[in-house]
Amino acid sequence: MPTHVPYGYQSVSPEEKRRRVLGHFETIAQRYDLADLLLSGGLHFWWRRKAMRLLQLQPGESVLDLCGGTADFAVLAARDVGPSGTVVVCDISPAMMIAGRSKARRAGVLERIQWVQGDAERMGLADQCLDAVIVGYGLRNLVSLENGLEEILRVLKPGGQFMAMEFSIPQAAWLRFLYHQYSFRVMPWAGRMITGSAAPFHYLAESIRVFPPPEKIRTLLINLGLERAAIHPLSNGLAVLFSAVKPPVHSL
Ligand SMILES: C[S@@+](CC[C@H](N)C(=O)[O-])C[C@H]1O[C@@H](n2cnc3c(N)ncnc32)[C@H](O)[C@@H]1O
Repeated sequence: MPTHVPYGYQSVSPEEKRRRVLGHFETIAQRYDLADLLLSGGLHFWWRRKAMRLLQLQPGESVLDLCGGTADFAVLAARDVGPSGTVVVCDISPAMMIAGRSKARRAGVLERIQWVQGDAERMGLADQCLDAVIVGYGLRNLVSLENGLEEILRVLKPGGQFMAMEFSIPQAAWLRFLYHQYSFRVMPWAGRMITGSAAPFHYLAESIRVFPPPEKIRTLLINLGLERAAIHPLSNGLAVLFSAVKPPVHSL
């Protein structure tokens, strides 16, 4: 592990990044869903559904919603895998998962979901126990992206599916300009109005910019041994889905 890692535009120790990221989500947990809805203009519902359509989860499967927070993906996955399936939410923030539990209860799928407070880079889950791992807006927050992806590979069954959703920089120049103004000026202000704290939204805008571009993430997935690694841009590149599959045992 390096002595310093990027935290937005700053460089901090790994422990400091973990501490700050946790602090942000503990602070905004109760208003996270409202902020997600208003700041994405509702687009995130569509993006999540597209991710689930690509995944095609089957009844009875076991799925991890990693960095699962308030459990949006977990609730969708729980519907797809049905009563015979299992969904695990793993997150470092207890406050985010408390908000997620209420949502899962309202959706009638609470009993299908297990909640694990833990670090994505060293999960206490068994090797090869999951049919799919979904990471919504989580990879950017990890101290070491490589460690996180290796850990995901470890817990996936051979043939298991990986799906991640991340914010990205829009492809069209005009939209990039608007997005820049929006994310550095409007978002921290609106974020503070909604959650009471602007710092997580300054970090959000900066962390999107320092996160590796989609093609580099795809290369990382391929180098780690994942197959069928693909990029699916959403809404002109405002967000992106990464999908890949762990190779079946016989081809390892
Ligand atoms: C932006 S939120 C995304 C929540 C949810 N996945 C979604 O799609 O809305 C990022 C989540 O990642 C969690 N997180 C950040 N670093 C983590 C880590 N190292 N291990 C586990 N969870 C982490 C945060 O606590 C937070 O709940």
